[in-house]
Amino acid sequence: ADDPRLRHISDSIRSIPNWPKEGILFQDITTTLLDPVAFGHCVDILYERYKDQKVDVVAGFEARGLIFGAPLALRLKCAFVPLRKPKKLPGETIGEEYTLEYGSDRIEMHVGHVKEGNRVVLVDDLIATGGTMVAGIKLMKKVKADIVEAACILELPLLKGKDKLVEHQVGLYTMVE
Ligand code: PRP
Repeated sequence: ADDPRLRHISDSIRSIPNWPKEGILFQDITTTLLDPVAFGHCVDILYERYKDQKVDVVAGFEARGLIFGAPLALRLKCAFVPLRKPKKLPGETIGEEYTLEYGSDRIEMHVGHVKEGNRVVLVDDLIATGGTMVAGIKLMKKVKADIVEAACILELPLLKGKDKLVEHQVGLYTMVE
């Protein structure tokens, strides 16, 4: 429970006040990426959690979920599927609209890359309101995938994103608050 790696990860994240706008304390994981020990711990902890879960697909959210999701998929020896902002993917896409802490957006994935019955782990760097993660959950449900869990490095618990996932019967795993 008291994994010293979690403290190392937590210490590696930098807080930037008033970005991208006044009143927001931005949690910046680029400083985690500078430290291969901290970055490695993030991937190791996720790998240990999902290695016996028969995961078929890791799906990572643009932008920072791609950074943590791709190395996890490699470790698990499973597929990696990027969930992108609109008009980024060249093939036929399926998408889902969502509202953000600041603004509204849409995520898309390639049709056919997650198949019916696939066991999927959804990965992002951070959960705030949960809007992004819920959009990912809805997208996976549209294609009849089986969601193993949603995983983020960091949670902002005051924004109650976890409660939103509970409504969709999906568990949330986070490393630090
Ligand atoms: C951030 C973060 C998550 C999302 C969490 O991404 O990386 O994806 O917001 O917020 P939510 O739980 O309220 O939905 P951002 O929207 O800044 O996009 P980016 O990673 O492409 O910059």
